[in-house]
Amino acid sequence: MRVHGGPSRGGANRPLRPRLRVLVCCLVPLLWAVQTTAVVQAESMTGGGDVRARIVGGTATAPEAAPWAVALTDSSGAHFCGGALVSAREVVTAAHCTLDPTTGAARSATDIRVVLDRRDLRTRKGEVVAVERVWRHSRYEHFTRGDDVAVLTLRNGVSAPPLKLVGAGERERYRPGTTGTVYGWGRTAESEPTSQVLRSVRVPVMSDVRCSRAYPGFERESMFCAGYPDGGKDACGGDSGGPFVVDGRLVGLVSYGSGCARPGFPGVYTRLSSYAARIRDVAVNPVR
Ligand code: ARG
Repeated sequence: MRVHGGPSRGGANRPLRPRLRVLVCCLVPLLWAVQTTAVVQAESMTGGGDVRARIVGGTATAPEAAPWAVALTDSSGAHFCGGALVSAREVVTAAHCTLDPTTGAARSATDIRVVLDRRDLRTRKGEVVAVERVWRHSRYEHFTRGDDVAVLTLRNGVSAPPLKLVGAGERERYRPGTTGTVYGWGRTAESEPTSQVLRSVRVPVMSDVRCSRAYPGFERESMFCAGYPDGGKDACGGDSGGPFVVDGRLVGLVSYGSGCARPGFPGVYTRLSSYAARIRDVAVNPVR
């Protein structure tokens, strides 16, 4: 954080005694820096201050901008995650979205609804499709351990255009600095409610080295990070499972993060190139 101005020192023209000079030049800025750091830390722990003022930095999407972006709701209609349509009958989402967040038990297929073509969740536009089958990665344990990917097979085919899936092993899509767009109905800041309308934000892929500094358990085969070093733009709670899109291709899924949009803590995404072959295998309809 850059700070403007410093503590004022009266009588700058009067020569100071040596002892006093040491005090003013070293101790005062030191105390002041310690205090500033403490304030910044306290603010980021609660999601307040600057981080919150800048929200998670996204904008509402234009109507029809992302026809493959889907919302997942339970049987009562409550939204809990996002996902992306990759074939006429398949939705890719995060594995943790297929588990009940409080009990950890698997959500049954009958308790997951896929909502298509409904940018504003307060409306009844679009269609709600039942799920026939849930495939969750067999090694999935917890999002911090990777393999955070699942495929929902819909009970019937839909006409919405699917999103192309990244190719198996297409590593160049994850080059640091590559900018992707992430979509979701999640929180607009750590302490704000989830959004009623679909929002998106552009964030650059961050290097694996930088990412593992933020998250010691980071695994480069199954995850990648995206965000700015200073934070400000990120996915947040409720965005999980939602698409990270580069050049019209689904390359990642919102997986986890420490808080939202905090400096030094990028968002962590599922690295789909590592799972693309498996997803194509599991799908009953062709995935492009
Ligand atoms: N696990 C969250 C969810 O269930 C997603 C969190 C993403 N956080 C982030 N800072 N990118 O919606």
